[in-house]
Amino acid sequence: MLTLMFLVKSLHIVFVVSWFSGLFYLPRIFVNLAAVPADSTAERERLLGMARRLLRFMSILALLAIAFGLWLWWGFGITGSWLYVKIVLVLALIAYHLSCDVLLDGFVRNRNRRSERWFRIYNEVPLLLLLMIVILVVLKPF
Ligand code: HEM
Repeated sequence: MLTLMFLVKSLHIVFVVSWFSGLFYLPRIFVNLAAVPADSTAERERLLGMARRLLRFMSILALLAIAFGLWLWWGFGITGSWLYVKIVLVLALIAYHLSCDVLLDGFVRNRNRRSERWFRIYNEVPLLLLLMIVILVVLKPF
């Protein structure tokens, strides 16, 4: 039973890490898309293709990370008030993920008005959430 729990926790962490690789890289593509000159359609199409594929892939990774987390919670009964605060932060992470979808749609329709600088700052949000979630789940302060 313990081996299974550790296996599920390992897969939870692997998919969390993979999800974050997308959460860190996709806004970087947005920085490049915001910088593409209006007449470089080939470059724009290439970046849009990369962003679409990455968003699709990282959505699968997000679902797997959450599924294994729920398995740890509901399947093995690991819980505590730290987990409820963690869930709130995870909901913020999911909202960020969905905002990437909306921003990508803005680029696809050529309606983006945000600057490169705006996307560089936007790119830091997942790091802040990662820091808070990992400290919370490892220290379990309450
Ligand atoms: C709905 C989503 C999630 C649920 C229900 C969930 C639930 C859990 C549970 C119950 C554990 C086991 C804790 C323990 O055994 O001490 C765990 C471990 C962990 N979770 Fe999540 N989690 C979720 C999402 C995330 C996310 C998004 C991250 C990353 C930012 C994350 C990072 C971790 C880490 C690093 C561990 C290992 C902690 C340790 O072994 O000390 N989880 N999660």
